[in-house]
Amino acid sequence: MRIETYERMFMILAALMLALGIVGIAIGALVAGVHVPSPAGRVDPRALSSTPPFDQPGLRDLGNGNYEAVIVARAWQFQPNAIEVPVGSTVTFTLASTDVIHGFVLAGTNANVMVIPGQIAQVTARFDQPGEYVWVCHEYCGFGHHQMYGKVVVR
Ligand code: CUA
Repeated sequence: MRIETYERMFMILAALMLALGIVGIAIGALVAGVHVPSPAGRVDPRALSSTPPFDQPGLRDLGNGNYEAVIVARAWQFQPNAIEVPVGSTVTFTLASTDVIHGFVLAGTNANVMVIPGQIAQVTARFDQPGEYVWVCHEYCGFGHHQMYGKVVVR
């Protein structure tokens, strides 16, 4: 079968682009450690208020500029809905829902995770610039969905 020269060139180019994409994904996953957030554990959503660490939501100082923010999501608020950390901090957000599926996306960072009842969601973000970073629930969760937000204040 005869293939036109330009057709052949285009097929080779397309194959190279595809291979480049696959190599890029492989390097990202295997070398750079890029991965989608996976559940960090399981928790009974009905017993959240008596299950550590969700019985005491809030910010914990882990030392060396590392923090853990334990946040409970419920219709329609985050608890707590504001935390404050110094510039240069790395914050691991540990979230769980008491009721329906919520979301957590933190503007200006790569932190973006679903908060599914029964699962513990965990994402980490580093804050090198001072300012206010707003997070919102990005999964429609009912009447008050648009009121579900919070912020990280970096000073
Ligand atoms: Cu919670 Cu939308």
